Amino acid sequence: MRNNLTISYEEYSSIDELDPSDKDLCQEAVKAMANSHSPYSEFRVGAAVRLESGKIVYGSNQENVAYPSGLCAERVALFTIGSTYPDDKILSMAITAHTDNFKIMEPVTSCGACLQVMAEYEKRQSHPIEVLFYCRNGAVIKTAGIKSLLPFAFAETRLKK
Ligand code: THU
Repeated sequence: MRNNLTISYEEYSSIDELDPSDKDLCQEAVKAMANSHSPYSEFRVGAAVRLESGKIVYGSNQENVAYPSGLCAERVALFTIGSTYPDDKILSMAITAHTDNFKIMEPVTSCGACLQVMAEYEKRQSHPIEVLFYCRNGAVIKTAGIKSLLPFAFAETRLKK
C-alpha cells in the first residue's frame, strides 16, 4: 500500500508581505542572534517565540568546545519557556541565521532534534505553533504547525502498550 502525505506551507518573498505581528517576530529573531555563541561554526542562529501573554522569548545557538554539548537556538528558546513560563501558550516562533562567511540565500530550516522538541511543546499545549523561517536575503517560509514539519514525530503513545 502506498500512502501519500501532503505538507502545506506559505512562502513570502519578503517580510513586508507578512502580517505586522509575524514581521515583528522575524525582526526579533534577528535581535536574538546577537547573543549567539558560535565561535566554532561561525554560524549564528536566532529564535524569537511569541507567547499568548504577549511576551517574546529569545534563543540563540550556544556552542561548546566539546561540540555535542552545544545547543540550537530553537531549543534554547523552547527550554527557557518550559522552565520559566510553562503555562504561557506558545503561539508562534521565528528563526533566522547569519554567517560572515557567505550570503545565506534561503531560509534556514530547523534540525530534526529541534522539530521533535517543537512537536512536544505543541502536543503539551494542544495548540498549534506557527513557525516562520526568515531569510534576510530571500524568502520567508511559514507553517501553521509542527505537523507540517515533522509529520512522523516520535509520540508518547509509542511508549505505551
Ligand atoms: N543550529 C541551530 O541553532 N538550529 C538548527 O536548527 C540547526 C543548527 C546551530 C547549531 C550550530 O551551533 C550551528 O547552527 C551550525 O550547525
